[in-house]
Amino acid sequence: MAESITITDNRTGQSLEVPIKDGGVAASEWSKLLPGIWFFDPGFLSTADAASSITYIDGANGILRYRGYPIQELAEQSTFLEVAYLLIWGELPTQDQLEEWRHDITYHTFIHENMRKRFLEGFHYDAHPMGILVSAVAALSTFYPEAKHIEDPANRRKQIIRLIAKMPTLAAAAHRFSVGMPFVYPDNSLEFAPNFLSMMWKVAEPRFEAHPALSRALDILFILHADHEQNCSSTAMRVVGSAHADPYSACAAACAALYGPRHGGANEAVIRMLTEIGSIDNVDAFVRSVKEGHGRLQGFGHRVYKNYDPRAKIIKRTAEEVFEVTGKNPLLDIALKLEEVALKDEYFTSRKLYPNVDFYSGLIYQAMGFPVDIFPVLFAIARTAGWLAQWEEMVEQDSKIFRPRQLYVGEGERQYVPLKERSA
Ligand code: CMC
Repeated sequence: MAESITITDNRTGQSLEVPIKDGGVAASEWSKLLPGIWFFDPGFLSTADAASSITYIDGANGILRYRGYPIQELAEQSTFLEVAYLLIWGELPTQDQLEEWRHDITYHTFIHENMRKRFLEGFHYDAHPMGILVSAVAALSTFYPEAKHIEDPANRRKQIIRLIAKMPTLAAAAHRFSVGMPFVYPDNSLEFAPNFLSMMWKVAEPRFEAHPALSRALDILFILHADHEQNCSSTAMRVVGSAHADPYSACAAACAALYGPRHGGANEAVIRMLTEIGSIDNVDAFVRSVKEGHGRLQGFGHRVYKNYDPRAKIIKRTAEEVFEVTGKNPLLDIALKLEEVALKDEYFTSRKLYPNVDFYSGLIYQAMGFPVDIFPVLFAIARTAGWLAQWEEMVEQDSKIFRPRQLYVGEGERQYVPLKERSA
């Protein structure tokens, strides 16, 4: 059987055979037959915007792999920094490569004093930490003007290291500022996750020692959130990056996309939903109201996964390990009951709605003491690795600037109406 499709323009009778390659057909081939006829695909539901070797998802079977490695194995055996290396450079690091990578990232965690003193302190006292993060990441480009030379691989590597390294520092600073606590400098004797926890929670103790189980849980959550192929924020990174803006500006755009409740805000919505449900006795009534069209079951359903999100299974296990240290999150019983009821209900099963990554992640974050406002910021720390991998791949491929077409459905040419002759 030929791996191709044939399209026919019924206006002219002309046909064209287009090969199917890597699971897609090149739109440029169609355009040879149909110049000026555009594919109408709002939300890119049927459009692949990149040929990528980074992340593989099989939504029907609940499979997620980074560079070919199953997410389960990475979550069990790797650290976030190893996974970031893998995503960006394509291979797991050797011991020497990992040492160099860890050293480079550890020694780029500090931010310029002006960033802290003048820039961050300019925000209103109750500024949302994600709003602060979006602006702070964009502001970094002004400290590193050489970052605009994206054609130089060594220069790109330097900015990649800076971004991964400084993200936790900015994230913690945004939190400390929003709760009126003094800024904590990075402690470069600590690993990535414990260093972030130190910047978040240190008060007067000379050295903050995070509980190893909590550091590991956070590192696993960072691994699970590190990339998810062409999602909204990664696409924003590619769109802005395709104009050859520097990586800080592109990353700020990606952060802004992640701020949206349909994307990075869902785990916060899960906590609010569980709090509103209040008791396992109210679960049945809540599920009924969702089925009647009153809102959605937050943390359920996914555009790509039509099966259990593989990340959700790992997170459920991680939650148990965290609760052994922190005590059980009181909302857990409601979440478990909700999952049990939904997974037995025809409404959810027939629509292939399963728990996604966000169903349990918020419960862990909350048990660890993170306020809900910081949840998308935690997501951003992890996803920075994926954004940079997508960006590096795009620049390496020398891809074209994103410039889609539109179907114009507005007025035809009209005669100008002077102001005094206009009526509502
Ligand atoms: N609760 C109840 N019904 C739902 C839900 C839900 N969470 N999700 C989808 N449906 C129903 C929807 O009403 C529709 O029913 P019908 O066919 O009768 O109209 C059907 O399922 C298909 O829904 P859709 O909106 O066409 O699906 P989508 O692919 O456009 O949306 C989604 C995907 C994730 C936005 C959606 O499932 C949702 O809103 N989920 C809740 C929010 C959430 O958990 N988001 C986190 C996603 S994972 C993190 C990330 O990747 O950023």
